[in-house]
Amino acid sequence: MLSPELESALNEQMKNEFFSAYLYMAIAGYFEDEDFSGFASWMRVQALEEMSHGEMFFRFICEAGGRTDLRAIEAPKNEFTSPQDAFAHSLEHEKFVTDSINKLMDQAKAEGNHAAQIFLQWFITEQLEELSNFGHILKKLKMVEGDGRGLLMLDQELGQRTFVPPKV
Ligand code: FEO
Repeated sequence: MLSPELESALNEQMKNEFFSAYLYMAIAGYFEDEDFSGFASWMRVQALEEMSHGEMFFRFICEAGGRTDLRAIEAPKNEFTSPQDAFAHSLEHEKFVTDSINKLMDQAKAEGNHAAQIFLQWFITEQLEELSNFGHILKKLKMVEGDGRGLLMLDQELGQRTFVPPKV
């Protein structure tokens, strides 16, 4: 069972996850336009991950006896000045998502909703990984700043990423 407050907060987080997919597709579009096909591919994989996160919230709300409420998704930023700018924007977005997941967990704890806490635990761990991934890529981009060859190598490296559906 979900309280109306927790149900609403879970629906809001479902929207955040679907927005994340939309944002990373927008960034993939920017990279395609700049001919960074590896970065574009990495972002499309990230968008697929975010879709699966949104789907996990959808499933949990249903299983917990709540009602899904698909909310309006705002337009993401579409233009960036460089790969570094795009990844810095992504990292800031992931910090926002981490904060909202942490607040959701606080709410689930305050309400004594154990099922929601167990569900959200997966996302707490996932956010650690996402912040780390985006942070590492941003560091590498800073390292290769002004070095075209280094940037192309990084583009190639990131293009190797494949989508692995989350094991939950
Ligand atoms: Fe599912 Fe990147 O937050």
